[in-house]
Amino acid sequence: MLEKIKQHIAEVEAFTANTKEDVENFRIKYLGKKGLLNDFFAEFKNVSNEQKKEFGQVVNKLKNTAEEKVELLKDALENKEEAKGVYGDLSRPGEPIEIGSRHPISIVKNKIIDIFSRIGFNVSEGPEIEDDWHNFTALNLPEYHPARDMQDTFFIQTNPDVLLRTHTSSVQVRYMENNKPPIRTISPGRVYRNEAISARSHCFFHQVEGLYVDKGVSFADLKQTLQYFTTEMFGKSKIRLRPSYFPFTEPSAEVDVYWGLETETDYKMTKGTGWLEIMGCGMVDPNVLENCGIDSEEYSGFAFGMGIDRIALLLHQIPDIRMFSENDIRFLEQFKSSL
Ligand code: DAH
Repeated sequence: MLEKIKQHIAEVEAFTANTKEDVENFRIKYLGKKGLLNDFFAEFKNVSNEQKKEFGQVVNKLKNTAEEKVELLKDALENKEEAKGVYGDLSRPGEPIEIGSRHPISIVKNKIIDIFSRIGFNVSEGPEIEDDWHNFTALNLPEYHPARDMQDTFFIQTNPDVLLRTHTSSVQVRYMENNKPPIRTISPGRVYRNEAISARSHCFFHQVEGLYVDKGVSFADLKQTLQYFTTEMFGKSKIRLRPSYFPFTEPSAEVDVYWGLETETDYKMTKGTGWLEIMGCGMVDPNVLENCGIDSEEYSGFAFGMGIDRIALLLHQIPDIRMFSENDIRFLEQFKSSL
């Protein structure tokens, strides 16, 4: 009998299982109500007194070994299942990693910043909620000046002194108030105008303002800088400056870049002229310099301002400006390969 039990111990020790079912069958065989161990315990009373001690020890060992084995196998199988849950089928091909994309406005803005930073311009910013002085008065647009009508302004509540800036030219003023020449800065940012929303215009959009103030800055410097910019930005170096009017510059000009008329798209973009208007510019009006505490006898400067949305629409042939603010993932995903 003892030998038989010892054989069982060896059998239990050697037992392995692949499924939970195997383990359960094993448990029932040894530890179940009608299992072998209960048979052996029942046998105890028939064992001679001399053998009782050894018999008891061996049966107990079988019991402990079987119990430990069941626990061990259960744990092992559970771990195996968990591992499968975490890693799945290790032979499967990897999941594609989704990469994000920058917003087309950011892509164009960053490109502009990059181009100007290469010729020594830094980046400056100002508040979107402005006061009358920085958005209008200091820029040579006093109260009742007719040019104020050009910019449909959003005023904050009933205070006409607080408004949403209508252009980034307000940052020029702030920068000149706080920094001494030489000044070379570009100011990208969001601006607001109370306009009807359509495919071509929105009540908010983005601009980049440029400002260069130093001794002896001339219109020739402006033209050269703009030509450098259009070459780097669009790969087009032919530009023309048309006389224009802005209250904060004198003289003022509108900048067109010669896009060409090679493709149907060129025709569409330039309305058959080959020329594309890209920004306004001019020599900073001496009044503006003085308003900002800069001696206009000693210093001169040029400034320019362009719409980022407009350039992004052109470059990417986007049909509707509203797409920039709709956050439609199908639209945004298309800019993955850009910077
Ligand atoms: N502030 C003008 C606008 O919003 C753009 C502009 C024109 C800015 C000429 C300038 C400039 O600095 O010199 O339409």
